[in-house]
Amino acid sequence: MKVVVTGGHGQLGRSLVRRAGGAGQDLVAVGRDLLDVADPAAVAAQLDRLAPAAVINAAAYTAVDRAEHDRGAAFAVNAVGAGHLARACAARGIALLHVSTDHVFDGRATRPYLEDDAVAPLGVYGASKAAGEVAVLAAGGTVVRTSWLFAEGGRGFVPAIVRAALAGERLRVVADRHGCPTWSDDLAEALLSLAARPAPAGVYHYAGDGATTWHGLAVAIVEELQAHHGLAPTAVEPIPSAAWGSIAPRPAYAVLDTARIRALGVVPGGWRRAIGRVVTRATAAAGPRRDHSSEP
Ligand SMILES: NC(=O)c1ccc[n+]([C@@H]2O[C@H](COP(=O)([O-])OP(=O)(O)OC[C@H]3O[C@@H](n4cnc5c(N)ncnc54)[C@H](OP(=O)(O)O)[C@@H]3O)[C@@H](O)[C@H]2O)c1
Repeated sequence: MKVVVTGGHGQLGRSLVRRAGGAGQDLVAVGRDLLDVADPAAVAAQLDRLAPAAVINAAAYTAVDRAEHDRGAAFAVNAVGAGHLARACAARGIALLHVSTDHVFDGRATRPYLEDDAVAPLGVYGASKAAGEVAVLAAGGTVVRTSWLFAEGGRGFVPAIVRAALAGERLRVVADRHGCPTWSDDLAEALLSLAARPAPAGVYHYAGDGATTWHGLAVAIVEELQAHHGLAPTAVEPIPSAAWGSIAPRPAYAVLDTARIRALGVVPGGWRRAIGRVVTRATAAAGPRRDHSSEP
């Protein structure tokens, strides 16, 4: 069964390639150069050429802060583009799994968000993703919301903390936002498992097991570096979001309830279990450790 991944060069796209390769699954990952979701002609041409049984849409405008000043570009990809893809898939009988985000919620909940809770995005990125969900659902696609994706590479949180800790930089991390870190490879495996069965309609939440804060995640990364990579005891200073100075507002509470996807037999992995492996890979990618212990 052939699966096509859009946004194939992104964080999730790379995880999908890795996981499908490991499982011997027939997966074709295409980047924006071949399939720009905002271009209906490119979408149609590539779906006709590749003729997959399912598409996983990992393409997105993900620059949360930049989106505040770049509304048109965010909506072109996350809302209009998602709609083009969903309708083109529907017209060809191709199942679509579309990835969305906890940013569709306002973060004022006091219990984990259910799939059917009202969306109320705080920022432009969340609004564009919420509009994309509507377009995908209208065309019969499936929406899988996730949160706090992490992997070893790129501009992500784990490599940033690894690099800063190994360089002896002061670590100041937001401690008043709560969510569920999700290993990108775990999400990839879940999406591949959903793609291989009759399309479950509607919205699903998939997020790593266990809630924490960004500070809690940074502490776990530092613990791994200390336990396995020779990092000297290193403090992680908790700070409020206001002290970080993000441009876009973000949900303070972004914990997603995952009972619905669990009922399909798709059980989210624990983020704490995954972090050791990801830190090891990020450390290798960061190169030889600079030892700051002898500096004044
Ligand atoms: N990262 C998170 O913490 C997080 C949390 C919750 C949900 N999500 C969702 O998870 C999904 C995957 O995110 P990610 O972390 O893998 O993001 P990512 O690393 O930014 O990857 C997104 C990919 O989409 C591509 N893209 C952008 N515009 C496109 C277009 N018009 N047509 C085709 N491809 C396009 C990007 O290519 P360029 O590099 O060329 O722009 C990039 O390769 C997204 O739907 C995101 O909203 C992410």
